[in-house]
Amino acid sequence: MSGSETSSPNSAVRSSGTGYAARIEQEKGHRAKSRSLKPLAKLWPFVAKYPGQLLAFLAFLILSAGFSLMVPAMLKLIVDCGFGEDVTEIAYCENFTLTGTSSLDGYFLIAICFALLFSLFGALRYFFITRLGQRVIADIRIAVFNHLTTLSPAYFERLHTGEVLSRLTTDTTLIETVMTGSISFALRSLATITGSIILMFIVSWKLALMVLGIVPIIVLPLVIAGKKIRSLSRDGQDRLADASGRAGEALGAIQTVQAYTQEPQERALFQSSIEASFDAHKKRILTQGLLTIAMFALTLTGIIGVLWFGARSVAAGSMTGGDITAFTGYAFFAVSGMSALTETYTNLMRAAGASDRIVEILGSRSDIQISDNASAISEARGNIEFEDVKFTYPSRPDMPALCGVTFSVKPGETVALVGPSGAGKSTVFQALLRFYDIDGGRVKIDGIDIRDLDPLNLREQIAVVQQNTPLFSGTAHDNIGYGIDKPSDMAITQAAKAAYADAFIRALPDGYDTHLGERSATLSGGQRQRLAIARAILRNAPILLLDEATSALDSESERAVQKAFESMSEDRTTLVIAHRLSTVLKADKILVFDEGRIIESGTHEELMDKDGLYAHLARIQFDQTAKLNDVRPE
Ligand SMILES: Nc1ncnc2c1ncn2[C@@H]1O[C@H](COP(=O)(O)OP(=O)(O)O)[C@@H](O)[C@H]1O
Ligand SMILES: [Mg+2]
Repeated sequence: MSGSETSSPNSAVRSSGTGYAARIEQEKGHRAKSRSLKPLAKLWPFVAKYPGQLLAFLAFLILSAGFSLMVPAMLKLIVDCGFGEDVTEIAYCENFTLTGTSSLDGYFLIAICFALLFSLFGALRYFFITRLGQRVIADIRIAVFNHLTTLSPAYFERLHTGEVLSRLTTDTTLIETVMTGSISFALRSLATITGSIILMFIVSWKLALMVLGIVPIIVLPLVIAGKKIRSLSRDGQDRLADASGRAGEALGAIQTVQAYTQEPQERALFQSSIEASFDAHKKRILTQGLLTIAMFALTLTGIIGVLWFGARSVAAGSMTGGDITAFTGYAFFAVSGMSALTETYTNLMRAAGASDRIVEILGSRSDIQISDNASAISEARGNIEFEDVKFTYPSRPDMPALCGVTFSVKPGETVALVGPSGAGKSTVFQALLRFYDIDGGRVKIDGIDIRDLDPLNLREQIAVVQQNTPLFSGTAHDNIGYGIDKPSDMAITQAAKAAYADAFIRALPDGYDTHLGERSATLSGGQRQRLAIARAILRNAPILLLDEATSALDSESERAVQKAFESMSEDRTTLVIAHRLSTVLKADKILVFDEGRIIESGTHEELMDKDGLYAHLARIQFDQTAKLNDVRPE
């Protein structure tokens, strides 16, 4: 989709609320907006499915926070009552009989036990939250992918596949980090902060107020610099994404790059993106460094100042040494907890943005409406009718792809669709497969409007060989058997034989078990096409759609495959988009498309007599192929 296509007829695009550009804008606005933590709450249903683990986490969270807060209290006891020869000096120590060294050891022993319990509960808390986080993120990933497979092709045009994939991987990973790390961390910090503030006030409300007074001094710079750091780190991330996008493109088309000797240019492009990313990170690191210095200086000065005041209180007798020890512990917990919380906040925000994007996928509905009382056909007879079909691709609102297309195909007939490229031939197939809902008119199969059929049921009636059928990573066997459940080896071989693919498959290193790899770089165009044909043959559906299915075949194998198609199409309704005379000649009827309309139809002879576009095409376009192929009409 080039930029000019979406933005040139600006007024047209803007005025139609469902316009592509408008949606993209909406998308961007949406993306930038998520500046609150609310979207995270939308993931709650995923978490709520595991109440047991959640409760266990909360229990251990409170226990570990509680025990961590006991440690300063124990220290206070030891400092106040443990060392003094003259125990009675501090009144409350009378309640703790500290006579002799053995009980001093006892108190240390208890302190150690507390520390151990704190560690144990902390570990359990970590275990439960991490497990829960991983479980939840696995569920989210599955839910997102499952949902994506139900969305119609139009969705993937609005949101590019790259973007969808990044949501499925990067965004879920971000949430994963936050679920298993930041949220646990934040809750832990919250628990200890609350606890230590309460205890600080119990020990000395004056000192507590002073500590709370220095909190803004620490938090403010964090918040201000945090914003700057966030935007710089996003910059760095974006530049990196640019770089990897470009690298992916270049490596994917490495032959083109090398054939046109564009290696230096590609290297320069990649390098400049990477350097830009580095520059952004450099600035971020500098800001972060300055922030860290400021933070340390401020925090330490603040706490030392408070301690100085405390020390004077001890000297004046209004506080004990134990008080000041415990207080320092609490102040440390509180202040470090708060700065940790500020840092987590950034992560939580990023995760909020990510979950926003994920929830959006989960909330999007397929553009194909499934009617509630859908009728089902078990096996179509194969009667196809197009009645005044009008259709415009949502991503090309200014250019109708089909404008008033009417034709019908009787069961068992073979109809050829011909015409210049861009005429709308493939679009007819898209409409028939109901990848898009048409804007006007009707498409009927066996007299039933396809809008009244469940799309799954509809598509079960159809075997299609697309213009560029992708093969999946997996063996040749898997690829041929893609369209049906557990195909037998026999059936696969038969289909392959019918598609004239058997011989070359057997010649592959592992025959039918040869891994074809994701992009099937190991096969020629013609071989891929024959695999796709075998797949369609195996599917054995009453309606067969062939979209330039033999375009990449050499004339020898084309003629062979042609024979396979002929025997297949005998008892099937076949629509074939063809560009070769040999195919067209055998059709019961020929529909000539131009600019989204059928401008002529009839048999080869009738159309030649008319001397219109078909005759013209037949002369200039088919002629050469016909000669090359040396077609002798049988
Ligand atoms: N997914 C799509 N989104 C937007 N426009 C499309 C899409 N697919 C095809 N078109 C446009 O619709 C018109 C008809 O295309 P198509 O049916 O593929 O033509 P062809 O006759 O070559 O098969 C062309 O102008 C093409 O650019
Ligand atoms: Mg096409």
